[in-house]
Amino acid sequence: MTDLTGKTALVTGAAGGIGRATALLMARRGAALVVADVKSDVHRTAAMIREAGGRAESVETDVATDAGVATIVQTALDRFGTIDILFANAGVTGGLLPRLDTTTEDFAEVLRINLLGPWIAIRSVLPHMADGGAIVCTASVAGLRAGAGPIPYSASKAGVVSLVQTTAMALTGRGIRVNAVAPGLIETPMTEPLYTDARAKGREDRIGQLNPTRRGGQPDEIAQAVAFLASDAASYVNGQVLAVDGGLSAQLPFTPKWSL
Ligand SMILES: NC(=O)c1ccc[n+]([C@@H]2O[C@H](COP(=O)([O-])OP(=O)(O)OC[C@H]3O[C@@H](n4cnc5c(N)ncnc54)[C@H](O)[C@@H]3O)[C@@H](O)[C@H]2O)c1
Repeated sequence: MTDLTGKTALVTGAAGGIGRATALLMARRGAALVVADVKSDVHRTAAMIREAGGRAESVETDVATDAGVATIVQTALDRFGTIDILFANAGVTGGLLPRLDTTTEDFAEVLRINLLGPWIAIRSVLPHMADGGAIVCTASVAGLRAGAGPIPYSASKAGVVSLVQTTAMALTGRGIRVNAVAPGLIETPMTEPLYTDARAKGREDRIGQLNPTRRGGQPDEIAQAVAFLASDAASYVNGQVLAVDGGLSAQLPFTPKWSL
């Protein structure tokens, strides 16, 4: 039931990281892909899928605009005829540290890309999505509670949590499920400065030490969860946020006894 043969999937933020890993996995499971990103590396993602024998088109565009999303949707319909899966994944941090002087413009830009973008994508695919469609958005553990990102980023991801809950309910009876993944710390271009800094200081072994699995995650570990949520294997999972974070969000802060 995790097979995606015959389905068409749209993946945003697919130039690298979690989006690329998910697009590659969905293609291996049989889906035809339309991958989109504001970066030109998105064409490489599509090329990788085609080189492996899959079907993929790439669109270089801002996916937080009506026009950009319209192009992606039209590409999917022209090339593959249907839209069965949407993975609204594109996102930005807007900086790595919490600040109390973030400007209105900077805050609004993070909300535009991280929250409005997924909404535009959801609204745009719905007229073309039949019974059995699946939508997955990328939230974050930062959207579940404080401590994992800057203020606008965390607020935007909390908004994504509400977005999947409210759209799932608004779609009652349509046969379309809407869920989110909430990744913990994953090694991608987004977190590259953190990994580079830790490695330069010889402290790579400290990454992920706050979660009980005691390591950071890899993009494919998020892709596996997204592919599940997008597949018929998740047919009774709706309006949920699946944390894929090594257990980070399952616990309260504590001092482990081995460090006392
Ligand atoms: N890496 C982590 O630790 C982590 C943790 C939690 C959530 N996330 C979320 O996962 C998602 C994927 O991030 P990633 O970690 O793979 O990093 P990433 O930077 O590799 O991926 C994000 C992609 O989104 C694209 N993008 C940004 N704004 C865009 C726009 N307006 N239009 C089109 N594309 C745009 C970027 O170009 C980039 O390729 C993001 O939503 C991010 O917030 C990441």
